[in-house]
Amino acid sequence: MAESESNGSSSGGLPESDTLDEEALRTMIATEFSGEGFYNALADRIDNAEAARLLRNNGKEEAGHARRLLRALSLKVGHEVEPTPEMLSPTAIQLPDSISPGLLSTIKDAELEGDLSYQRWAENEADPQVARLLRLNGREESIHAVRVEQVMALLTPPQVALDPA
Ligand SMILES: [Fe+2]
Ligand SMILES: [Fe+2]
Repeated sequence: MAESESNGSSSGGLPESDTLDEEALRTMIATEFSGEGFYNALADRIDNAEAARLLRNNGKEEAGHARRLLRALSLKVGHEVEPTPEMLSPTAIQLPDSISPGLLSTIKDAELEGDLSYQRWAENEADPQVARLLRLNGREESIHAVRVEQVMALLTPPQVALDPA
């Protein structure tokens, strides 16, 4: 499925690992940076200004997550780390022309999983400053899930018209 290959979900890449070592952090930085392009591509395909705005907000915060992880990586290695071209090169985004409720639901679930992953990585992180950054990202992934839910509601035709009563 396109959504699982798109690498746009925030938990993409390493949802199962218990810790974020240096290499895993680098992978997550790239994943989070690509999240902005993913959400923008999603917003481009949605014909509802408010829904598109919510999705772009998520995207902006994914880039913020990447920058936060860069700080975490810098703390871990003990010097300022600049993003590499690999971290910044966007992954190919494969999305259908029209976005189905099922795809949005998959994205919502991935965001919730992303929060759980960040909380778990934070629990297993020795450096309290790094753990704090991971928790901040996690909390925002759950906010992203709420926004995706709001998008789903905005795109759902009102049920009242279908009710016989
Ligand atoms: Fe994220
Ligand atoms: Fe997210």
